Amino acid sequence: MDQQTALITGAGSGLGLEFARQLAAQNWNLILAGRTEQKLAAASQELETVASGWIKTIQIDLSEPGAAEALYRQVRDSGETVELLINNAGVGLFGEHTTLSDAELSSMLTLNIVNLTLLSQYFGADMKERGHGYLLNIASTAGFQPVPLLSSYAASKSYVLNFTEALAKELEDHGVKVSCLCPGHTESNFFERAGIVASEKGFFSPRARMNPEQVARLGLETVFAGKLTVIPGFRNNALILANRFSTRPLAALISKRLTANP
Ligand SMILES: NC(=O)c1ccc[n+]([C@@H]2O[C@H](COP(=O)([O-])OP(=O)(O)OC[C@H]3O[C@@H](n4cnc5c(N)ncnc54)[C@H](OP(=O)(O)O)[C@@H]3O)[C@@H](O)[C@H]2O)c1
Repeated sequence: MDQQTALITGAGSGLGLEFARQLAAQNWNLILAGRTEQKLAAASQELETVASGWIKTIQIDLSEPGAAEALYRQVRDSGETVELLINNAGVGLFGEHTTLSDAELSSMLTLNIVNLTLLSQYFGADMKERGHGYLLNIASTAGFQPVPLLSSYAASKSYVLNFTEALAKELEDHGVKVSCLCPGHTESNFFERAGIVASEKGFFSPRARMNPEQVARLGLETVFAGKLTVIPGFRNNALILANRFSTRPLAALISKRLTANP
């Protein structure tokens, strides 16, 4: 394969770093975007030992209005063509909605929804014009039902899921493959950053988390195969299947019981 370029948001840790590791091993050039300069530098240093393509980093806070356009311009002005965009950067906020900070809520929604949507638009338009490209958006199993104590985070992932599946249909006749990865609990900084204090036997127990390497691999296989949506892991698929046979009030009640015991 000729060397092509992938842009990964939130590439300094967790799933984003795993995507970068796997793409580096597959001969891709990488643009690693993220909020923390030191994490990007450490990721780049690690990847340079295995990558055959080049690696660039872009420090950007995607919770800021206007950041998607700034990132797009920076990439375009450097002359790079992004063949694969992974909209991975995202955060959660755990707690009763009425007690959360309005600034943190706005930042989360700008990051998880607004800038993901705009990056999909800017790079999606270029891919459509070229007649090829790949776009992978990261939603969550939380996006399949209401989730008390993660109400706005889960709703933001419902948005990502529905938006991505619709966009995939718009772009499928233009050579652009768009997929949605819906991880369940996966080992990363996500829980701590969301304010979740996970207990050994609770719903968010570290024992029930998937390995980010497996989850990222499935995401890449899905987008390269042009499939619409993937949920990693047997347990997560079973939960989502059970949801389909449930009513919305019942699903909300079960979620409430689960998140009340973190
Ligand atoms: N882990 C799970 O159980 C799970 C389950 C379902 C879905 N997901 C989704 O998977 C994606 C990746 O999360 P993760 O689990 O890998 O968690 P993570 O380790 O916390 O990674 C999140 C990444 O996003 C970056 N990021 C956060 N805020 C940002 C901002 N304002 N601007 C730019 N980058 C920002 C972080 O960079 P800094 O560290 O520099 O801030 C970090 O690299 C998220 O969209 C998350 O919602 C995770």
